[in-house]
Amino acid sequence: MDTLRQRSGAKAERGDIRWHAAQSIQRCRELAAITDVPGQTMRTFLSPAMRSAMTRLQSWMEAAGCAVSIDAAGNLRGLYAAVTDDAPLLLIGSHLDTVPDAGAFDGVLGVMIALSLLEMLRGERLRYAIELIAFSEEEGVRFRVPFIGSSALVGRVDHDLLSVADSEGITVREAICSFGLDPEMMGKASVVDRAAAYLEFHIEQGPVLESEDLSLGIVEAIAGQTRGEVRFIGSANHAGTTPMYLRRDAVAGMAEWIVAVEGKARATKGLVATVGWVSAAPGAGNVVAGEARASLDLRHAEDPVRFTAVNELLEKAQSIAARRGLRTEWQPQMEQRAVAMDARLTLMVETAVCETGAAPLRMTSGAGHDAMILAERVPSAMIFLRSPGGVSHHPRETVREEDVANALAAGLAFLKLFDTTRDAHA
Ligand code: HGY
Ligand code: MN
Ligand code: MN
Repeated sequence: MDTLRQRSGAKAERGDIRWHAAQSIQRCRELAAITDVPGQTMRTFLSPAMRSAMTRLQSWMEAAGCAVSIDAAGNLRGLYAAVTDDAPLLLIGSHLDTVPDAGAFDGVLGVMIALSLLEMLRGERLRYAIELIAFSEEEGVRFRVPFIGSSALVGRVDHDLLSVADSEGITVREAICSFGLDPEMMGKASVVDRAAAYLEFHIEQGPVLESEDLSLGIVEAIAGQTRGEVRFIGSANHAGTTPMYLRRDAVAGMAEWIVAVEGKARATKGLVATVGWVSAAPGAGNVVAGEARASLDLRHAEDPVRFTAVNELLEKAQSIAARRGLRTEWQPQMEQRAVAMDARLTLMVETAVCETGAAPLRMTSGAGHDAMILAERVPSAMIFLRSPGGVSHHPRETVREEDVANALAAGLAFLKLFDTTRDAHA
């Protein structure tokens, strides 16, 4: 049986890689059917569907030769041991949770590619251990705080985070306990003292690779994010009897602000700003709204530009409210600085991709990823796969089998490189 070092991507191997690529895609579609909401793909933090998906994945991980565990943050972790116990540790993973009405590949494909790489080792043990990680919560849907899973790996799950409550008033701590896990064991989830590197495969979720007709991308940096909730408070009143000039209409104020949000982003190079949900109270068609709430998601590759934009938009909310006799409030939910990937590891990834014959494109990610959390404490790198149609966070999200095959070939080449450059593990 060829060892990893002897394997050279020969024709026979390409057939094997295509088979594993097809299997990875099929598994993503299988997991997409495991959902909290019938008729769409949706899996949130420690939900019943998440438990079912983890059970299915655990069986695959064990069959691939991993010792599987679930840490206190609900991450599913498969340790593929090395030839020796004190060997360096390489982490490869992505997230298992999804947005509402999601596609089948955001996050999950990165987990399946990591699993396929382990399966392609066919039991061969390397001079470093590999830990496959399926993160429990990256999107931030249930608690409106993203990256709970990966935050546990770098010691960032604290009392405040454990105390955040979901829409039903259940805290993160209570959700962890209800799942049968012990939040007091959170410290054991950390990899800070053990991991030599982290690698994440992920769909690009945008149009760039497709527009360049490229299969794979190399992520150099991940844009910073500000997420929060804006409220406008006015006074509810009768829609028929309240003259326009006497109204304190919260929805009208919110609408004017949302147009300003879009205008600011359109006028600022590289800035994206999104209001993903809006709610009105009391929420009846014949009542002038007394309260309007909305999300704000604002991103840029350079933090100072993002901070300036946030401040300007909050000042705009204040001036709209003052003119309309409203009050406005801002509730920050997440500040994540822009993060550069590790230069040396990224060069290793780029070399591996070039070995497959693919022409890699270095790029910045507008989407957030677990790698931006790991990168704070562990040298991290990411490989993007082309997103046909540039569609993501949508059921039409898809991926090409040839690109998954290229990612697997690059992954095998990376494992070989990582094995030979032992100083990288130092
Ligand atoms: O929203 C994001 O940036 C990612 O898809 N979680
Ligand atoms: Mn996502
Ligand atoms: Mn993702």
